[in-house]
Amino acid sequence: MPGVELYELIRKRRSIRQYKPDAIPHPVLERILEAACWAPSGKNLQNWRFFVLQGPFRDDYLQYAQKAWLHLQPVLEKRLKPSLYQFTERFFYTLGEAPVVILAYSQPHPEENNQTALGSVYMAVQNLVLAAEAEGLGTCVMGSPLEVKDEINRFLGLEHSELELVCGITVGYPAHEPPAAPRQPDRVVWLGQAQS
Ligand SMILES: Cc1cc2nc3c(=O)[nH]c(=O)nc-3n(C[C@H](O)[C@H](O)[C@H](O)COP(=O)(O)O)c2cc1C
Repeated sequence: MPGVELYELIRKRRSIRQYKPDAIPHPVLERILEAACWAPSGKNLQNWRFFVLQGPFRDDYLQYAQKAWLHLQPVLEKRLKPSLYQFTERFFYTLGEAPVVILAYSQPHPEENNQTALGSVYMAVQNLVLAAEAEGLGTCVMGSPLEVKDEINRFLGLEHSELELVCGITVGYPAHEPPAAPRQPDRVVWLGQAQS
C-alpha cells in the first residue's frame, strides 16, 4: 500500500509523558518546526507562531505547568483513577523531564474566523507531532497551559501582543512506551456510495 509508513507512524504515535534527559540536536528541532510550517492554513495566512523553550527558559516555564495543575486538579481528582491521577500530577510538576517545550500561538487576522485560525495552528501542530515521531521523538500536546495563559504571555513578554495561546507541546526522546489509548468505533458517518 502506498504511504504505508505514514499510516504506521500515525498508529504508533502516543502522548509521551516521560522523557530521557538526552538533548535534541538543533537540526532535528529545525526539521520538525519546518514540517509544522508546511501545514495548510486558512487563506495561507500561516498564522501559527511557535516559541521553543529550552534550557533555563524551559526550567522557568515549569512553574506555569504546576500552576495549571492547581486549576485542573479538582476536576481530574474526580475523573482519574488514583494511579493515573498521581502519574498525571507528576507530569504537570516535571513535564516528564522533557528537554524542550514548544508553545503554539495564533496570530489573529481581521479577515480570518477565529476558529479557522485555531484550526490552522492545530494543523501545524499535528505536522510537528508526526515529524517528531518520524525523528524518534515523543510529544504530548497540552491544552492545560490555557489555564494560565495570561501569566505565560507575561513570561514571554507577550502581554501587549495580539497573539493567542493555542497549546503547549513537550518534546523529547521517549522514556516509556504507553499503551494505545483506545479509539471509539463510531466516529465516522458514511452517506451514499461512490459511483463506479
Ligand atoms: C487539544 C489537546 C489537548 C490536550 N491536553 C492535554 C493536557 O493538557 N495534558 C496532557 O497530559 N495531555 C493532553 N492531551 C493528550 C491527550 O490526553 C491524548 O492525546 C489522548 O489521551 C489520546 O492519547 P494518545 O495521544 O496517546 O493517543 C491533549 C491532546 C489534545 C489533542
